[in-house]
Order: sequence, then structure tokens, then C-alpha cells
Amino acid sequence: MKKLILAAVSAIVLSGTAHADTIKIGVIGPFSGPFALQGKNFKAGIDAYLAMHGNRVGDDTIEIVYRDVPAPDPAQSKALAQELIVKEKVQYLSGFYFTPDAMAVTPLLKQGNVPMVIMNAATSAIVTKSPYVVRTSFTTWQTSTPIAEVAFDAGAKGIMTVVSDYGPGVDAENAFKAAFEKAGGKIVESIRIPLATNDFSPIMQRIKDSGAEGVFAFLPSGPTTLGFVKSYNENGLKDAGIKFFAPGDLTQEPDLPALGDAALGIQTTFHYAVSHDSPENKAFVEATAKAIGSEAEISFPAVGAFDGMYVISKMIEATGGEQDAERAVDAVKGLSWTSPRGPVSIDPETRHITQNIYLREVARDDDGSYFNREVRTFEKQGDPGLAAAQ
Ligand code: PHB
Repeated sequence: MKKLILAAVSAIVLSGTAHADTIKIGVIGPFSGPFALQGKNFKAGIDAYLAMHGNRVGDDTIEIVYRDVPAPDPAQSKALAQELIVKEKVQYLSGFYFTPDAMAVTPLLKQGNVPMVIMNAATSAIVTKSPYVVRTSFTTWQTSTPIAEVAFDAGAKGIMTVVSDYGPGVDAENAFKAAFEKAGGKIVESIRIPLATNDFSPIMQRIKDSGAEGVFAFLPSGPTTLGFVKSYNENGLKDAGIKFFAPGDLTQEPDLPALGDAALGIQTTFHYAVSHDSPENKAFVEATAKAIGSEAEISFPAVGAFDGMYVISKMIEATGGEQDAERAVDAVKGLSWTSPRGPVSIDPETRHITQNIYLREVARDDDGSYFNREVRTFEKQGDPGLAAAQ
């Protein structure tokens, strides 16, 4: 009898402190439609992480629950995040390719007791919207600042900027302008174009007419960027000697075959190149290629996802699998590790990733394939965007 009572009491005590042994992670991204390749890269990066490290952390098993938001759609993103929190009982929210989709979910985090680990969305301000946001991707301030120095040194003293008219585009424009003017350059004209723009010929004509020696551009990576760079080549800007500068979103590796030789020599700055030469990246590329089907499809969202999974696994470890967003986020402040992209850390103040930014040039390998060749490293870059907003 005594034994029975003891067993009953310990069962109650145990269930009182127990947590689910399956920990669900809700991942929101574009898994269908024109940006499906980017979502596919989220999934491949997550699968690569699970293949290399297993799906268990301590006593707990990780389960990923995917939700598709094909294009920027804050209302849909918020509704799906709500469903993930309330019905699926996810302990973590992650993914988020587009800024508006991440922004819309930040008001849910505190009440839901759920950390958000951003695998892509790149507007600086997102991390300021909730103390439960951590980002393992990049910001367009971070990637667009170093290219300004490169542009100035390349002799382009007057530049026209062209960006998509939403968060990361406005940030990219401000970042480039601040650094380019500081170097001594002049912004000839700045234009912001709607996200849905897909005919770039009139813009190319405007760039030619502006008399600018170069163009700086940011658009979200996908069919839009491919169209933009193609249009730059096909409208004769390259032949006219108008130089092209951008963050690496504009030359993501899967688009390089379609751009062909016309893209050779294009310089971009970015946090990740598939060609990055390190043992960590070799292992990552091998596992990600297996997950996605071929190395030619790998793009930067995969590395944001892979490192996002690492951060979430550290959060699960630190909380012993219990749902405690504050403790989970605190545990990764200051965390540093070697990513496939190089050395990285989570800035304890901003919860954004500090990392190297690389200058890369589109090149052709002996086997005829195209790649981004890293030619210079800007070490340990934080997010200048948050400092600029102060
Ligand atoms: C964003 O919406 O934050 C975003 C999307 C795609 C990119 C960069 C930023 O390539």
C-alpha cells in the first residue's frame, strides 16, 4: 500500500514538472510558388542538421511542423503562427523568409511563450519588436555596407540605387548610401520599386539616363533577382560600362547557370558562399545536397536554417526541454560557434548574428559551372543597422 501511494505521489510530482518528450518547431516559409526554392533551402538546411546531429536533444525528440506562406503575406503568416502555437503547441517558431511575415508574428511571442529564430528575414528592426527574437541569417545593413567601399574603390563615384520598396530594401538603400557617402561617393538618384515588379527594362533605361557610373541594387532573392540581373545584362548596361554592385542575394548560386557568362566578374558582398572553403562547409554542402537533390540547388537560406537548428538545439538543451522562452533566449546570448559560413556568434545585446561578410566574384570553374568566389573578408561584422536606428 505504502509503495502504491509513493508511486502515485511520484507520478503526480513527475507529471507536474514533466514536459512533452516531443518538441515541436513550427517553420513558416515559402514552400510553394515562385519562391519555393528558398523554402526548399530552409527544409534542406534543417534536414542536413538533423541528418548530421540526429533528431534528439537530451531526452527529447524534435519534430518539425511546416507551414507554407508562398509570398509576403503578414496576415496569413500571423494566422498560421497562431495555429502553430495554439493547436500544434509548438515550443519554437522559425523560418521566415520575408520580413513582413516575421514582423507580423512578433506580437504573439510573449503571450505564447515562444522564441522566434529567424532563418532569413533581414530587416534590422525585427529583433527590436520582441525580446524573444533571435536571428541566424543576416541583415541587409550588414551585407550592403561593405560593398559601398568596394564600389568607391572600383572608381564608381556616382551611383544610382534601386531597391525593393519594403523593409530590407529601404535598409539596404540607407546602408549603402551611408557608407558610400562616407567614402566620398555621391548617390545620383535613389529609386524604390514595388515588390511585384517584373519588367525591369524601364528601370534600366532610367539608370542609363541618370549618368551614373554604377548601380547598387537590392531585391529579395528569387525570380525577381534573376530577372533584374538578366535585364541589366540584356539592356546593355554592362556593355556601356555601368558597374553593378549588390549584396549576394542578387547572385544566389542556383541562378548563376541562367545568367551565364554575362554574370562573370559581378561583385557582391554576403555572409555565405556555397564555395566557402572549410571542413564545416564541406560537410554542410554534402548533407544539404543530399537533402535537396543536388548541390546546384543550394542557396543561402539553407545555412540560416542549419544554424537556426543549432541555436534551437542549444535552447532545448538549456531548458531541459521545458517551454520557457526567456530562459531559452538567454541561453544563446553570446553563443559562438563555427558555422559553415565561418566563425559566428549571437550578439547578446541585439540577438542578431555577428559574422564575416565576404566580397565574392562570380567565376567559372574548370568544369564549366559557375560559383561565387570569395576574394576578401570583412571580419566579425555586427549589424550597423541597429546602431544607425539609435
Ligand atoms: C526579407 O524579406 O527580409 C528578405 C527576403 C529575401 C532576401 C533578403 C531579405 O534575399
